[in-house]
Amino acid sequence: MGKLKIGIAGAGGMAFYHYGGFVKAGAEVAAIADPDIERARAFGEPRNIKTFYKSLNEMLAGSPELDAVSVITPNKYHKPLVIEALEKGRHVFCEKPPALNAAEMRQMLDAAKKSGKTLMFDFNNRARPESKAIKRYIDEGRVGRINSAQALWIRRNGIPGFGGWFTTRALSGGGAVIDLPHMLDLALWFMDYPEPDYLLGAAYYDFMDNRAFKGPWGIPDAEGGITDVESACHAMITFKTGQTLITRSSWAEMNEREVVSVSFQGQKAGGKVERLFGIDGLDETSIDTSKLFVEEYGRQADLLIKTEKDDTMGRVACAANFIEALEGKAEALNTPEQALIIMKIIDAMYESAASKKPVRID
Ligand SMILES: NC(=O)c1ccc[n+]([C@@H]2O[C@H](COP(=O)([O-])OP(=O)(O)OC[C@H]3O[C@@H](n4cnc5c(N)ncnc54)[C@H](O)[C@@H]3O)[C@@H](O)[C@H]2O)c1
Repeated sequence: MGKLKIGIAGAGGMAFYHYGGFVKAGAEVAAIADPDIERARAFGEPRNIKTFYKSLNEMLAGSPELDAVSVITPNKYHKPLVIEALEKGRHVFCEKPPALNAAEMRQMLDAAKKSGKTLMFDFNNRARPESKAIKRYIDEGRVGRINSAQALWIRRNGIPGFGGWFTTRALSGGGAVIDLPHMLDLALWFMDYPEPDYLLGAAYYDFMDNRAFKGPWGIPDAEGGITDVESACHAMITFKTGQTLITRSSWAEMNEREVVSVSFQGQKAGGKVERLFGIDGLDETSIDTSKLFVEEYGRQADLLIKTEKDDTMGRVACAANFIEALEGKAEALNTPEQALIIMKIIDAMYESAASKKPVRID
């Protein structure tokens, strides 16, 4: 089998990680499409990519040799680009969130089934060494059934710029809820992706006009742009299995510090995966841990699982997994069916926040 050929749609901040993962797994990134063609060139030329297009449509027509496409655009474009690529016979790796809502995700799932092609998403936190290590303990039966979990991504000051696509609901689908589904996904993965039953949640909009709450990643503000999304949400979800999950996500909230973690309580052991960010809030200076809480020989004991460091938070490994899954060398780390469950939960979060009532998830 020759090298798989990949086209990137959207030369955004995440392209660096997708490219790294695809190449690491032995694939070739052969073309880039972005309406901002200068941005595509600036990313591609230093990496010896020579073919650039202004749209996915042109890329698929002009580079028929492409086996797969990765979609790294503002969220609004995920659905149309994913469906177009699938319908034109390409496998797809798409950034999170999968779509703007569950109805869109359902259409993407249908398109994937109809095409027979692989559709995966960048739920990169599953590919972190700490997450994979603890999942092994869960899969081997050391944790037992997970009764309950808490999924937290709480930023004290992490608004991704003001007025750009992230803060414009029509382009992003929302704020902290839809932008930070990672810990929710990780908790669901540990819990074996149960069917949700009810959700009760609330959303808050504080600090969305206060530049002191801007994140540290250098995302530019768009003067005169729209900022109409939530800064924080809190919710409790019950599942048809009897399991429960508490989730919090925020871009800006008066918390002591940034918290990025999943804790869970199983019938045999508990556990926690955590990324501790320093004051600079950057991946490179973070500290990751993975712990199990057990009872052994009449005593309570904590097991610290040592893993290698991955500054990319699993982003490179997740993109590599897409290639390995296409080549039959590894199991796909996530499925479109799971993406539909997470989009149903996100829809319910917004619905419950608006109605101030519990929402039944079908
Ligand atoms: N997994 C993670 O850790 C992570 C982190 C940040 C962002 N993301 C996700 O990645 C996606 C992109 O975010 P980003 O920070 O890279 O954004 P970005 O704004 O840096 O880049 C988006 C790029 O998409 C291009 N684009 C817009 N419409 C397009 C179209 N129709 N076809 C092709 N290209 C198009 C833009 O010109 C721009 O270059 C979002 O869905 C975001 O939620 C994921």
